[in-house]
Amino acid sequence: MLSKKELMEEIFKEILECRKCGLWRSRRNPVPGEGSLDAKIMFIGEAPGYWEDVKGRPFVGAAGKLLDKLLAGIGLSREEVFIGNILKCRPPGNRDPRPEEVNACTPYLDRQIRIIQPKIIVTLGRYASAYIFSKAGIPFSGISRVHGKVYRADVLDLDITLIPMYHPAVALYNAKLKSALEEDFRILA
Ligand code: URA
Ligand code: SF4
Repeated sequence: MLSKKELMEEIFKEILECRKCGLWRSRRNPVPGEGSLDAKIMFIGEAPGYWEDVKGRPFVGAAGKLLDKLLAGIGLSREEVFIGNILKCRPPGNRDPRPEEVNACTPYLDRQIRIIQPKIIVTLGRYASAYIFSKAGIPFSGISRVHGKVYRADVLDLDITLIPMYHPAVALYNAKLKSALEEDFRILA
């Protein structure tokens, strides 16, 4: 049987060569995700931005700095959690993900969730939240309605505690949303 590490490396290799949607054409580096393969908590963002595309790592730009701070605030480091995204390649100009791109890319995320088997999934923003809600069979009524609520959900046959939150990138420029995000992290703690 392959180890978690081997299974994840196989996914990384596939992503490196992936051309299942058009985003491979404009990306510099794919961003498969990183962190502990035994993480209890998995964070799912939307898609790589400028710096993530440059470095091939998730949440390393301004939104990432805020995420690091929020994690540190509840005594967690990046190494203890797993941080992934709905899309592994950057949409040009950071435009919103398109449905066909989400459909093409999320089988990778599903496999990552199955390998890690987290207890808690924190979805950051409406795209990640809408996707995991649909997996859980829960109607998604919008991020402003559901953020900070704690759901018990069946996701890919795993018993998951699901906590949707605002995306750190929107909290950067909106003090109200930033307080809401900080409050939601206290719930996570
Ligand atoms: N925003 C995201 O959704 N994901 C990243 O990796 C970086 C910024
Ligand atoms: Fe493949 Fe996902 Fe990149 Fe599209 S975004 S090319 S599906 S890895």
